[in-house]
Amino acid sequence: MSQRTLVLLKPDAVARGLVGEIIGRIERKAGWAVTALELRTLDRVTLETHYAEHVGRPFYEPLLDFMASGPSVVMVVEGERVIEGLRVLAGPTDPIVASPGSIRGDYGTIVRENLIHASDSEESAERELKIFFP
Ligand code: PPS
Repeated sequence: MSQRTLVLLKPDAVARGLVGEIIGRIERKAGWAVTALELRTLDRVTLETHYAEHVGRPFYEPLLDFMASGPSVVMVVEGERVIEGLRVLAGPTDPIVASPGSIRGDYGTIVRENLIHASDSEESAERELKIFFP
């Protein structure tokens, strides 16, 4: 089942020069392809829309400040079961418990700077793709 998902390489991934490494991992999955890509510093309105479900949580404001702190890579990735697959490739939110071999497990330490966002369901992917690629 071919799908499309939204992927953000967060400002820490860009600042640390990990973009090529992360995109390379995505491209090497058989049949997956990056079909849109832009280096973009995310504005507050876009971030508020994207993270609306987390308003009021303790991490919300620091997360928005971090996400606006420098350029991100905004991408559409297409391919077989890519929504679930990218969540597995990214690893869980906390990089310390993410397995080695996952992007967060290999490169991350603290939760806020966890390198990558990938849509968590078909509904989220549809909503998020409209936000970032209207
Ligand atoms: S939940 O409870 O499952 O809905 O939350 P989760 O999916 O783990 O996290 C939602 C997004 O918030 C980010 N997050 C944080 N950012 C900064 N600090 C802390 N402590 C923190 N906890 C969670 C998390 O990375 C998710 O953002 P995205 O962009 O989806 O990765």
